[in-house]
Amino acid sequence: MKEHLQHPVFSIISAVADEAGLETYVIGGFVRDLILKRPSPDIDIVTIGSGIELAQKVANRLGPAIHVSVFKNFGTAMLKYQELDVEFVGARKESYQHDSRKPIVEDGTLEDDQNRRDFTINALAICLNQERYGELVDPFGGIQDIANKIIRTPLEPGITFSDDPLRMMRAIRFATQLHFTIEPNTLNAIKDNRERIKIISKERIAEELNKIVMSDKPSVGFKLLNKTGLLELIFPELAKLRGREEIGGIGHKDNFLHTLEVLDRIVPNTNNLWLRWSALLHDIAKPATKKFVEGQGWTFHGHNFLGAKMIPNLFRKMKFPMNEKMKYVQKMVDLHMRPIVLSEEEVTDSAVRRLLFDAGEDIDDLMTLCEADITSKNPDKAKRFYNNFRLVRQKLKDLEERDHIRNFQPPVSGEIIMETFGLAPGREVGLIKSAIKEAILEGEIHNDYDEAYHFMLKKAEELGLKPIL
Ligand code: CTP
Repeated sequence: MKEHLQHPVFSIISAVADEAGLETYVIGGFVRDLILKRPSPDIDIVTIGSGIELAQKVANRLGPAIHVSVFKNFGTAMLKYQELDVEFVGARKESYQHDSRKPIVEDGTLEDDQNRRDFTINALAICLNQERYGELVDPFGGIQDIANKIIRTPLEPGITFSDDPLRMMRAIRFATQLHFTIEPNTLNAIKDNRERIKIISKERIAEELNKIVMSDKPSVGFKLLNKTGLLELIFPELAKLRGREEIGGIGHKDNFLHTLEVLDRIVPNTNNLWLRWSALLHDIAKPATKKFVEGQGWTFHGHNFLGAKMIPNLFRKMKFPMNEKMKYVQKMVDLHMRPIVLSEEEVTDSAVRRLLFDAGEDIDDLMTLCEADITSKNPDKAKRFYNNFRLVRQKLKDLEERDHIRNFQPPVSGEIIMETFGLAPGREVGLIKSAIKEAILEGEIHNDYDEAYHFMLKKAEELGLKPIL
């Protein structure tokens, strides 16, 4: 393994550890990623003794500019060196109580420390002391599991998951990110221990969900969450999308599978976490709006509107940011039907202008979402949709170049209206302002100050108002 430890920080830690007589290893995710050839900016160092003491000695050797952050309660210390975050900890033996994630921690051996880790692939250690430099310590066959692409716990899985139930999410997240399979015994233990996820904070669950959403095939993770029963506990609204119903031989598609397909389809086109979340949430109100209408079949009227209304509560529950990210997802969910409806009908300039006005800066993201939403298995139908979308996109481009609707603010402001007619803020100002906006969106006038000013004068006259100047 020596050839893998090229970074100069390893030889420095090695020399310092030898001088201090501390048996020291690099361990965990860094070693896993080294073997998988994935970049990993976090290095975990474990020593049989005090991690804090070793960190301070290493920092002294690295130079006066190196600052050590000490977390006494956890017995850990961290330093930044070049582009790396290096964390030091003393080897630990941990035992857990049933109702808490807080373990009772004692000093331990390397073996104790490896025993308490989540997966065999995350329990690999490489010795840094000179005599054994580069020696791999792999008590649970982690290397073999990496080769076979398997997620497995080092101990009996019931113990590992019960010790820290977040690991159930981590197993699914690693399987999704790395394209690994969860070994059957480990998978069954997730099913058996699923209720224990309730003691984990929403923030940590959201962190794992985000990593699944950002992977290159997120559906794998959501299907595993569903299969293990975790989905219903952590994200019941998504679980409700599952299944098909049939009345008189007419069925509807399984909206859970459709949603996952849309999410997978959007992946190559965006790294924007919130656009991916928009894909996951675009049909979230379908169960609540579902109806069977004689002669029409299944309808989900207003699911975009109700879906947008559900977003703030969902975000609050998930401990997601309640800021412009939330508003963005709301907007995407609200508008996700508009380009499709538009492309089904004749694409008029005014409809395209309205879409541009409502979507603003996010119009391209909205189009990306809508294209991903076309999951029809009928090639003719899908082709028709794509062609129509191409038309909508072209029209959007033409109109944007001409009218600059995207950041559209009516060119005549409320202040100008009030000054011109000596009005106080009120109903009439609003009426004139929205008439100007409508006239521009309908294409009656251009998005231009002079044209809007004249339109304002005409409209005001109709209302019996005269300019005061
Ligand atoms: N670990 C664990 N149980 C947890 C979290 C972490 O046993 N619930 C151990 C694993 O050995 C893991 C190491 O701590 O490899 C470091 O954890 P972390 O930095 O959270 O994860 P990584 O494995 O490095 O992976 P990633 O950075 O992708 O989260």
